[in-house]
Amino acid sequence: MNLNEKTISKTAKFVKDKLAGESSGHDWWHAYRVWKNAQLIGKNENADMFVVELAALLHDIADFKFHDGDEGVGIEIVREHLTDQKVERSIIDEVCATIKAVSYKGANAKSAAETIESKIVQDADRLDAIGAMGIARNFMTGAKFNEVLYDPEIDVPSYSNELEYVRAKGKSGRTVINHFYEKSLLLKDLMNTESAKSIAEPRHEFMKQYLDEFFDEWEGKK
Ligand code: NI
Repeated sequence: MNLNEKTISKTAKFVKDKLAGESSGHDWWHAYRVWKNAQLIGKNENADMFVVELAALLHDIADFKFHDGDEGVGIEIVREHLTDQKVERSIIDEVCATIKAVSYKGANAKSAAETIESKIVQDADRLDAIGAMGIARNFMTGAKFNEVLYDPEIDVPSYSNELEYVRAKGKSGRTVINHFYEKSLLLKDLMNTESAKSIAEPRHEFMKQYLDEFFDEWEGKK
């Protein structure tokens, strides 16, 4: 194991310990899958994979809240950990910038991921919200917010941006199946990299097949 690999494996252990017992969709195994997705995407992209892997592992380590340029406690935890690991200052800055670009959910969230490293981590995070994982996570989230499974009489609401969508979480009148139309099925077209687009394609098709089957069974069609 070279030095970078050691830092990555120590970071994986750090994230695993930090997120132990986290029962939302952002537990250690989410971080693990985003890390694996990022490795897969990175194979065909020209990126600094050390930065990508660290940022993927650490991207959800804390709830990043930004107030007037205040970086928040989450990014401080990341900085401290990487400083303890004797990671170069310039790399730490890059990892933090990558995480900020990925986690920032504001009006201009679309333009936040500008470097190839942040594009990859954002794609990796989004890939974990589609396919078999997306289906499973939608049901988990729905259960957490006491949402109904499905109600044909509840229309799919439209949101003008991601922040509005996040804020609506947990409000009444939402169904798990609607989440597919509000978010999951839209993610394929939001991928930044060509690699993620091709990985997203079959995962997207799998969700569509699942929904077809769901509605057929709902109406007792087969
Ligand atoms: Ni995430």
